[in-house]
Amino acid sequence: MGAKKKYLITSALPYANGPIHLGHLAGAYLPGDIFARYCRLKKRDVVYVCGTDEHGVPITITAEKLGKTPQEVVDHYYQDIKSSFEKFGMSFDNFSRTSLPIHHRTAQEFFLTLYHKGYMEKKSLEQFYCEQDAMFLADRYVEGSCPHCGYPEARGDQCEKCGKWLEPTQLIEPRCKICGNRPVFKQTTHYFLKLSKLQKPLEEWIGKKTHWRENVINFCKNWFKEGLEDRAITRDLRWGVPVPLQDARDKVLYVWFEAPIGYISSTREWAEKSGQPDRWKDYWMDPANTRLVHFIGKDNIIFHAIIFPAMLMGHGGYVLPDDVPANEFLNLEGRKLSTSRNYAVWLNEFLEKYDADSLRYCLAVNMPETRDADFSWKDFQARHNNELADILGNFVNRTFTFIQKYYGGTIPQRGRLDELDQALIERTAEIRDQVGRFIDTFQFKEATRRFMDLARFANKYFNDREPWRTREAAPEKCATTLHLCAQTTYSLAILMSPFLPFTAAKIWRMLQLEGKPEDAGWDRIGKPALQAGHPLGRVEILFRKIEDRVIQAEVERLQKIAAELEEEKPQPHQKPEEHPPVSIEDFRKIELKTARVLQAEPIPGSNRLLKIQVDLGRETRQLVAGIAQHYSPEQLKGKTVIVVANLQPAKIRGVESQGMLLAVQDGERLVLLSTDGNVSPGQIVS
Ligand code: MF3
Ligand code: ZN
Repeated sequence: MGAKKKYLITSALPYANGPIHLGHLAGAYLPGDIFARYCRLKKRDVVYVCGTDEHGVPITITAEKLGKTPQEVVDHYYQDIKSSFEKFGMSFDNFSRTSLPIHHRTAQEFFLTLYHKGYMEKKSLEQFYCEQDAMFLADRYVEGSCPHCGYPEARGDQCEKCGKWLEPTQLIEPRCKICGNRPVFKQTTHYFLKLSKLQKPLEEWIGKKTHWRENVINFCKNWFKEGLEDRAITRDLRWGVPVPLQDARDKVLYVWFEAPIGYISSTREWAEKSGQPDRWKDYWMDPANTRLVHFIGKDNIIFHAIIFPAMLMGHGGYVLPDDVPANEFLNLEGRKLSTSRNYAVWLNEFLEKYDADSLRYCLAVNMPETRDADFSWKDFQARHNNELADILGNFVNRTFTFIQKYYGGTIPQRGRLDELDQALIERTAEIRDQVGRFIDTFQFKEATRRFMDLARFANKYFNDREPWRTREAAPEKCATTLHLCAQTTYSLAILMSPFLPFTAAKIWRMLQLEGKPEDAGWDRIGKPALQAGHPLGRVEILFRKIEDRVIQAEVERLQKIAAELEEEKPQPHQKPEEHPPVSIEDFRKIELKTARVLQAEPIPGSNRLLKIQVDLGRETRQLVAGIAQHYSPEQLKGKTVIVVANLQPAKIRGVESQGMLLAVQDGERLVLLSTDGNVSPGQIVS
């Protein structure tokens, strides 16, 4: 037998570009945390690391939009994410950041080793360059129409509509994300990671991973079938980890190259903090004795199952992932999340109103393990009220209350056991083992259901024993019942602690036990732990029912956004309608005027609408127009347009519009009406 297995557990590093929502939790965080907590209970040697992913184009785009520096953006979201994870009960041993010097150093060393081992190749190529902004447009800095499905808002790295991976140069009618202008081609050089050289060993390695989830294996097979291509892993950007080579001093490492190395840096930081700076090597550099497990969402499979392993292989000496349990997506009330449109449930806001444990339970019991799952508020309420409160909470509460009331708050003597008593004890041990097996095979949904089965069984046991009757008729029996019920709350506290850590701690307090349930150890479940005469603490209510009215408000908020999203779906091209003739008098009732655009800006939360200020000669007017996908604010400025000046004002998404721009829809294109030659604003069109 070798040394004791070590567990190195990671959850995907969230982008420091926005707050955490429920979709994130169900994908990479809750399962990782349940697994890590379980491993610790099993007294395994565990390190669980995470941190924020602080580079990449989306972050610099956010910074530009907010008029802040990228550092300010990531500082804010690092704090925000870290604190909401804490409130959710995430038990990371270290939560790092990729903007820290320790990460920059680790990533640069990693790059150099691959470089010296011949896994990097310098190539020159033509890339989009925006002359207006004087910069190369990496990845998401370019938008345009998707060459596969025609979606007009495709990003330079991927089309959100059809999901295909893209190169910016494949886009039809490319535009600069910053200024809207058409970029030009310009020569640049980049370092490419020679993935093609690693395909064979990778394929062999994954071929042995028969225990991996089917979705992950299939995904990898498809990539191998298409053949791994060398990938550019440097970028012409200023925000990121600088490439540690003289000839690439103004370039940074591609975020997807350096971010996974963040797992290593986070472990290094953990080791430094613990006073043994080399300790990280015990995990990362002891492949024979370490199990590395990456918890991720399915959109990250390629990087964790192929590219990062390729990097680790090429580098040499490192452990490779033993498993990559990728989860599918979580929908919300039957619809895809949209963070930009606020069709999401944000963790911070959620935790202001509801308990972390209720959410952990609801997400775990519906975990999107083999297919997409759905979070619905009604289901959340039902899980909370009917299972957590009515089964688990009820069982614990009635046990404690009964003992307080009839036994002076101390655990009564256990007498002779009959069959039903034995069944409770056996069931506890059986469920302990089942839950353990399910967690060890990453079947968290089943594990959660089994743990609740024990609460259900115990609650039924209490009913069937009718202690309120036996108390007088058969006092010894009654004492035995309550003794076993108290022991079962102890077992439940440990059993639930990976899923419901806050509730487990509460029960521990109520049992007046030292330390924490986490320290007790998994094997204590089902073993007698409390002596007769042990005094219990004050009873606390574990779960208060959530009222319909509260849930209704949550549902309505989302329904409103869903309706807006429907409304904004591009309308199918309108057929010209035949109208009956109108008199010239009727036509003259419509006041058409020339106007000059003074200013235009996007309306937050809408990718279709612009708020526009126009000069109408004697006055300035504000208009709201659905043209953001066809004209950028900069393009509009100074243009002369035609406006319906006497249209009744209307509010569009809360913003007042005092008129209407005239435009022609020509197929996919929308073109504004203007004048043939210079005209001053406010002139009547007739
Ligand atoms: N930031 C990425 C995301 O949220 C995940 C990065 S995982 C890492 O999708 F391995 F690259 F760190
Ligand atoms: Zn530009």
